[in-house]
Amino acid sequence: MKISVIGTGYVGLVTGTCLAETGNEVLCIDIDKDKVKQMQKGEVPIYEPHLDVLFERNIKANRLKFSNSLEEGLMHGDIIFLALPTPEDEDGSADLSYVLGAAADIGKLIKDYKVIVDKSTVPVGTADRVRKTIAKETKVEFDVVSNPEFLREGFAVDDFLKPERIVIGSSSERATELMKKLYKPFVRSGNPILIMDEKSAELTKYAANSFLATKITFMNEIANFCEKVGADVDKVRVGIGTDSRIGKRFLFPGIGYGGSCFPKDVKALFKSGTEVGYHFNILDSVIKVNSLQKTILIPRIDAYFKGNLKDKTIAIWGLAFKPETDDIREAPALYIIEELLCRGAKVTAYDPEAMTNVKRKIGNKISFSSNMYEALNNADALVICTEWSIFRTPDFGKIKDKLKNNAIFDGRNLYDLEEIKEEGFYYSSIGR
Ligand code: UDX
Repeated sequence: MKISVIGTGYVGLVTGTCLAETGNEVLCIDIDKDKVKQMQKGEVPIYEPHLDVLFERNIKANRLKFSNSLEEGLMHGDIIFLALPTPEDEDGSADLSYVLGAAADIGKLIKDYKVIVDKSTVPVGTADRVRKTIAKETKVEFDVVSNPEFLREGFAVDDFLKPERIVIGSSSERATELMKKLYKPFVRSGNPILIMDEKSAELTKYAANSFLATKITFMNEIANFCEKVGADVDKVRVGIGTDSRIGKRFLFPGIGYGGSCFPKDVKALFKSGTEVGYHFNILDSVIKVNSLQKTILIPRIDAYFKGNLKDKTIAIWGLAFKPETDDIREAPALYIIEELLCRGAKVTAYDPEAMTNVKRKIGNKISFSSNMYEALNNADALVICTEWSIFRTPDFGKIKDKLKNNAIFDGRNLYDLEEIKEEGFYYSSIGR
């Protein structure tokens, strides 16, 4: 099939590349000329495991191409994916200007039947708005379909190629059949393609992300309570996770959820509720608890240094909002760094992938190290913000040699309590 993908951000790029992998002819469109040139040379503009291999293979096979021209995109694809950003507006709602702007342009350029697919995470009712925006400009027949994505950063290629489910919101049989044909190769395992109305599909995405964010936040509160009463959240986690109604996943407490999706989507769903006169009490709490959780280590670090962090050097391991990504959007590490700097501390940081992005965002306010041990030179304490595998089994002897105080504040519960005690560290983790 011929596919066009408008927008080569994270979702668009993964979608385009993986659809080319099953033999479709894919044209990806982006307004950023430098980015298009870079992709035409075969360079992947984001870090995502395995994407580079698929990218190169499909470019070589002539199935994956790039262009700046929306007109070319409209000529090429029978199915046009909109994978445009929906950033958070000042009031927390999703800003639809990119999506609706593209819809208006499509209306002006469309010459024959197309299926327009909303792939971006968009509020309930957006498919209708996209449909109306296009229809204002043209008499040509077209359909609008909602097809939310459930990709996790770091696992996006695998998630796309082997999805647990595909959700398609469509009220047109013609469009539904085309979408089913497109996705058939990805659900050979028998996983379902769920067909529903557009609004339910749009809400499915927000409900899924908000549910998962709530699950994590609930565990963060249980962890905080564990500390007060002397229980161990790891034991409680396994204790409840073995109940299949609860499930083992997304029960890991830490220093709050971050990233490009959960924070934005929870706020956007909350805002959508307000707009129709519904107050989401749960989401209101989730937002508040998560914001507190991000800096939960700060009072502990402060107390350890008896309220005097001035000129103390704090080493940070992990800057990305989670491992296997260079994404620092809403990363707890950034909030922790800000609080430390406010208190007069110096920060040296190491992250396997995300240092360039942090440098770009906060410049030389902190110093960066070329490896995890170098970050400990002259440091008074270590704070762990991201659970990269490399941090899981460190050389504790080396850490002790370098740190001035043998203190570790672990926001991701990486170490065994007994082992770390034997090593002689002051160790503070979450809910244990
Ligand atoms: C998420 C959804 O999982 C995905 O389906 C959606 O399409 C986009 O948003 P992503 O943001 O890539 O994906 O990361 P994910 O692995 O889901 O983690 C989100 C956040 O939750 C991270 O900050 C992570 O550290 C945190 N988290 C996750 C926990 O704190 N505890 C857990 O048990 C799991």
